[in-house]
Amino acid sequence: MKTLSVGIDQISFYTANFYLDLGVLAQRNGIDIGKYHRGIGQEKMGIPAHDEDVVTLAANAAARIVDDAERARISTVLFATETGIDQSKAAGIYVHKLLNLKADCRIVELKQACYSCTAALQMACALVARDPAQSVLVIASDVARYDLGTPAEPTQGCGAVALLIKANPRILNVHPQVGNYSEDVMDFWRPNYRKTALVDGKFSTKMYLKALTNAWDNYQANGGMGIENLSRFCYHLPFTQMGQKAHNSLYRHSKPAVDKATFDSQLQDSLIYSRVIGNSYSAALFIGLASLLENDSADLSDESIAFFSYGSGCVAEFFAGTIVKGYQNALFTAEHQVMLNARQALSYDDYLNLWNYPDPLFYRASIPSFTAAMRWR
Ligand code: CAA
Repeated sequence: MKTLSVGIDQISFYTANFYLDLGVLAQRNGIDIGKYHRGIGQEKMGIPAHDEDVVTLAANAAARIVDDAERARISTVLFATETGIDQSKAAGIYVHKLLNLKADCRIVELKQACYSCTAALQMACALVARDPAQSVLVIASDVARYDLGTPAEPTQGCGAVALLIKANPRILNVHPQVGNYSEDVMDFWRPNYRKTALVDGKFSTKMYLKALTNAWDNYQANGGMGIENLSRFCYHLPFTQMGQKAHNSLYRHSKPAVDKATFDSQLQDSLIYSRVIGNSYSAALFIGLASLLENDSADLSDESIAFFSYGSGCVAEFFAGTIVKGYQNALFTAEHQVMLNARQALSYDDYLNLWNYPDPLFYRASIPSFTAAMRWR
């Protein structure tokens, strides 16, 4: 019996209209630009305007892939984020309305740092396997913000990615085999009272690499593909040099028969968009996939692609998928290029202004329900 193929039918991403060139930050912080360009592998970081958040980023990413036919088929919206705008209501409900999706649709938000979009993808594949007539919209949307003047500051960014999950997909058939690794660690977290993340930077990079080794071993134990059968690699990208470190580590650990230069070439095209967007947390791995598919000059049809998803705290997953013949016709390559090229550069002062976005509590007197709550106290 032929097994049903389920996976990514369309992929679209979006980032803010503004960016800070890291040359501006390097000059301001008295840092040699080589540290940002080569040391962490970043050139620009997306900075949201005051009227942008994870909902607007997500809706812009998803708008391209939702037409009338899909409106009738989308049964579920899975919204992955660690920049939630409400402790109770799922951000996906606003996106559902903005996209004019049908009412008989379930919507839920998922959180586990940068990992949650992978969980959403796996859940979506399971739902579609149960009922191949439905489509599931998976969205990841995040704004990465760290304190000014910290080593993490140049690794900020923002972005959203939308994945349409279907039976007989046009882009990627997601394989059922996975390798997981989870451990309770404090490498990066953001408690409710903070607008910026707390991070033990060096420890977080060590945890990322430890989780990669363990997830790979688990993937192998679960019948995953051998290293030589994987022809391209996408990693979670907090900054592109992290992807290179991960790739070096996997090379040492898995000992493929290919030489290191060939192995390195299997990573590079996945890094292109991240270098100019910055960290987009839960969206970063899949913006890396879009970068690979839209920039690799080879025809990747029938090739198997490896994915490593890492969410601090931590949960990690190694999995793979096969590229579908003719995938090029389902991509939004030109639209993504136009969007990235149309962005506007910020001065340092403009960046500071956007970084210090208005605190909603400042407006409490003008919100009747909040004022009432304060009086009650
Ligand atoms: N030219 C070229 N390279 C230079 C340089 C120069 N002039 N100056 C320094 N470098 C190199 C350093 O040698 C170093 O290279 P290696 O990593 O290969 O040793 C690199 O630049 C970074 O410099 P530092 O070691 O001084 O590191 P830092 O203090 O600037 O901190 C960081 C780097 C820890 C990544 C920090 O940016 C950070 O905390 N970022 C946020 C946390 C993060 O992204 N962690 C990743 C794993 S966790 C995760 O993936 C989840 C997530 O999304 C957050």
